[in-house]
Amino acid sequence: MSGLLEIDQVSKAYPVRKGLFRREHFYALRGVSLSVDRSEILGVVGESGSGKTTLGKLVLRLERPTSGRILFEGREVFSMGKEYTRKVSVVFQDPRNSLNPRMKVKEIVEEPLVVHKVGERRKKVREVIEKVKLEESFLERRPDDLSGGQRQRVAIARAIVLDPDLIVADEPTASLDVSVQAEILKLFEELKKEGIAFIFITHDIRVVERIADRVAVLYGGMLMELGSREEVLRNPMHPYTRFLLSNVPVKHPRERRAESYAEIEYEIPQKGCPFAPRCPDYIQECSERVRRFELNGRIVNCNLH
Ligand SMILES: Nc1ncnc2c1ncn2[C@@H]1O[C@H](COP(=O)(O)OP(=O)(O)OP(=O)(O)O)[C@@H](O)[C@H]1O
Ligand SMILES: [Mg+2]
Repeated sequence: MSGLLEIDQVSKAYPVRKGLFRREHFYALRGVSLSVDRSEILGVVGESGSGKTTLGKLVLRLERPTSGRILFEGREVFSMGKEYTRKVSVVFQDPRNSLNPRMKVKEIVEEPLVVHKVGERRKKVREVIEKVKLEESFLERRPDDLSGGQRQRVAIARAIVLDPDLIVADEPTASLDVSVQAEILKLFEELKKEGIAFIFITHDIRVVERIADRVAVLYGGMLMELGSREEVLRNPMHPYTRFLLSNVPVKHPRERRAESYAEIEYEIPQKGCPFAPRCPDYIQECSERVRRFELNGRIVNCNLH
């Protein structure tokens, strides 16, 4: 496969305390394999705690996988130097937290160019500000003087200023009004046409429907299903995908901070299929193992297929 990014059997375990002295490991990701092609938007969808952000962090090298490999253009990402941060950048959910309030927009956008010692910086900054459809006058303003949508445009300008091949966008529209959301999604689509690939992380399957070329569905740290948007959304093969599509409103990330890690952890068995306790099509085997079904790029990790 000629993927830009290849995630190969990646697991991530975090240590968790059980009582006073016992420590165990909780798997936030379990044996996830998927790829991202050039110039495609891969939507990663799943409810809270499914491992979406963990996946993003591993791709960004903010954390190391416990096992498995991540390859970029065929090279192990941790063997790559600073060049990797030029090629892979990030847009977070809430630009209010990710943009330094003391800096002017022009400094925020210029910073990656300074870090990577790139020349012709002013020209480049003006170019990307235009690309994200902000007027030049915004360059002199600070994040606090901008609307949420404008701030996210600044974050995007910063993310594209080094001409990356891939952007990890973690809930980039979750904190925006619906109308502003639509404008930002349009902007992502334009950037995609210019050759940038996206890992677009969201809890909202409607956003995925609007923007993704392919969709990866995560639950309990496991890849449930992967395929083209049409296939996954029109003909979901995993019971969890059907559940997601059945219009059960998924809670906004802001609303669920109160849920403790431990609560989520108990719901999800660490052996077999994580969705087994909630699955309407459960069979005994699901408590033991998960079989993988693959056909023409469609992957379904479920014993029913
Ligand atoms: N540093 C950590 N230590 C222990 N557990 C963690 C840590 N980071 C994440 N987890 C756990 O890993 C699981 C996956 O978390 P992650 O943040 O990737 O989920 P998510 O899909 O991004 O959820 P959300 O939609 O709420 O952002 C969760 O159960 C979470 O509690
Ligand atoms: Mg998250």
